[in-house]
Parts: sequence; structure tokens; C-alpha cells
Amino acid sequence: MASLLSVSCWLLTTILKLDTTRYCPELKSEKEHKALFIFGDSLFDPGNSVYLNTTRLASTYWPYGEIFFKHPTGRFSDGRVAPDFIGMHAAIFAGLPMLPPYLKPGHQRFTDGANFASAGARVLMPSEAYIDLRGQLGFFKNVVKSLNQELGNIKSKIVLNNAVYMFSIGGPDYAALIDQNPNITESYKNLFVKMVIGNLTNALKEVYSLGGRKFAFQNVGPLGCAPRKRIDYDNCNEDLSSMARQHNIALSAALDGLKEELSGFRYSIFDYYHALLNRAHLPNEHPNTLNRLDDRDERVKRRANKRKPSFFSGPPYVALMPITR
Ligand SMILES: *[C@@H]1O[C@H](CO)[C@@H](O)[C@H](O)[C@H]1NC(C)=O
Ligand SMILES: *[C@@H]1O[C@H](CO)[C@@H](O)[C@H](O)[C@H]1NC(C)=O
Ligand SMILES: *[C@@H]1O[C@H](CO)[C@@H](O)[C@H](O)[C@H]1NC(C)=O
Repeated sequence: MASLLSVSCWLLTTILKLDTTRYCPELKSEKEHKALFIFGDSLFDPGNSVYLNTTRLASTYWPYGEIFFKHPTGRFSDGRVAPDFIGMHAAIFAGLPMLPPYLKPGHQRFTDGANFASAGARVLMPSEAYIDLRGQLGFFKNVVKSLNQELGNIKSKIVLNNAVYMFSIGGPDYAALIDQNPNITESYKNLFVKMVIGNLTNALKEVYSLGGRKFAFQNVGPLGCAPRKRIDYDNCNEDLSSMARQHNIALSAALDGLKEELSGFRYSIFDYYHALLNRAHLPNEHPNTLNRLDDRDERVKRRANKRKPSFFSGPPYVALMPITR
């Protein structure tokens, strides 16, 4: 069957000059094959945290996973997380399978990419409870080694050059900072943002030096308005949200700088901060979300009252409470 298919693909493309990728996806060349490498926190974590040898995570309990997988997978979401959708549906990746957690035992096809994201992951602070950015970068280097072994350096470089590198990172750094230092000074805040962005920039340069060219960022969300903060502070925590905004401005500037400095470096930023805030401010314009969020709102509050601190964070199903009540 496979050979029949290849013969007809050959006919279609060589004799009839039709578009190979459209008719014969299995004939995509290495040049066209796009891998997806994911770095980040709970918003992108497909369950790596489950394989860390730390205490059992909230995301391994019902109702996480309920609407898609029907059971908890370690994703902090009631269904899939953003990279699951992008790999499967974005046209340039069409045909990529859902990437498993990098830490999941067993063989993985790294020509498709890998997902290193880990709930709670920070840029600055290593911990046993998550894989910090440096740790994720270390795993990526292992993947590069195995690609070199598997494909040889030249083909491996093509895969790495064409791949897209997606990041969602920084939120947990600021959340922890403000939690632990409620009266932090403005000058320390500025310094902290500089350190986060400085370390992130260095990580991006390393990915670039290994062949990475296309970077996709989800910026940091309105952290101070996360349901748990709204419960703790009885409203949005403006200190925290302003740190997120400061980070996002610095991130844009840093990426612009890298684009100037590194030839072939390309990036895009999804403005998660405003996308999410708009849903909370204008619930009526997002009716489908609102219905679900009403339930979630109640559930999150009940949970918080039972001191079980967890909430759904997989976009766009985030348990947002409408801000105008
Ligand atoms: C967790 O523990 C197991 C068994 O001791 C070990 O094989 C595995 O490498 C550990 N995982 C991590 C991420 O440290
Ligand atoms: C922070 O400042 C507030 C008021 O300025 C004060 O009531 C509170 O005790 C301070 N908290 C800490 C941890 O220093
Ligand atoms: C990276 O973070 C550390 C703190 O963990 C800081 O001392 C260092 O200056 C940062 N590096 C850059 C380039 O900002």
C-alpha cells in the first residue's frame, strides 16, 4: 500500500505537476518538515510535571482533563493546552502528532519536536518541583545530540533551522516574587525584570546557536487577575499585573534587539495579556467562554474555600471571573 501511494504521488507531482504537500503529505522533504519545540510553564505543560519525583500535583486530579481526555493528564487545563492545538492545526505543522511530555518514558520522534514545558517553571530559580528554563534548555541540548546522531549534522541542522520554538515563561517568577515580598521596592522590581529578561535572552541565544531561527512567544498574562489572586486579594493585584506589563514591554524590546543582532532571527508575540484581560472585562463578547466560566467560577471558589489551591489555566478555558460584577 505504501509503495502504491508513493507511485501515485510521484505521478501526481512529476507528471501532473501538482502540489506535493497537498496531495502527498507523506512525501514532505526535510526542508518542509517543521518541528515544534516547546519551552515554558503550566500554560504549555503537557504533563512533564507528572514525571518529576515531587509531591503529587493538583493537575493529576479530576476535573483536570475532563472535556477532552476524560481523565487528568498533568495538564493544568480541562482539555488540551495551546501547543497541542498549534501542532495539530496550524497549517505549517499540519500532520504533527500531539507532542508528548519530554519526560514521558519511551521512544520519541524528535523530528516532530519536543515539549519541555513544566508547570511552575521559572527563568531564575531552579527547583525540584519544576524544570526551570535552564533545565529545559539542557533537555533541548540532549535532543539536538540525538538528532545529530540519528540524521547526521547536516540534516539535523535543517530540522533545527526550520523548527519553531515556542515559549511561555516568566509568569511564575513574578508570582513568586510578589507573594514572598509584598512590599518590594520599585527599583528591585526593575532589577528583577532585567534579570529575568537577561537570562531569557541568553537562553534564546543558545537556542539560536544550536540552529533555532523562528521563535513564537506568548507573553505573560494579567497575573494579578488570576482567580486565585482575585480570591486572595478580593480583587486584581495591581502590583503583580504591573510587573507582567513591565516584563512584556521588556520582552518586546529584547526580541527586537535579538532580531537586530542575530541574522535570520525571527519572532512573533501573542499578546496573551490583553487577550485574556479582554475576556474578563467583556464577558458578553465571549459568550461561549462565559457560560463555562460561570461554572468554573463557582467551582474555583468552592475549591479555594476547601483550601485546595488549583485553577484551570489552559488557554482559552482559563477560569476567569468577569471583572465587572
Ligand atoms: C524519578 O525517579 C525515577 C526512579 O527513581 C528515575 O528513574 C527518574 O529519572 C526520576 N525522574 C526525574 C525527572 O528525576
Ligand atoms: C507591607 O506594608 C504594609 C503597609 O505599608 C504593612 O502593613 C505590612 O506589614 C508590610 N508587610 C511586610 C511583609 O513587611
Ligand atoms: C541571571 O540571573 C541571575 C540571578 O539568578 C543574575 O545574577 C544574572 O545577572 C542574570 N543574568 C543576566 C544576563 O541578566
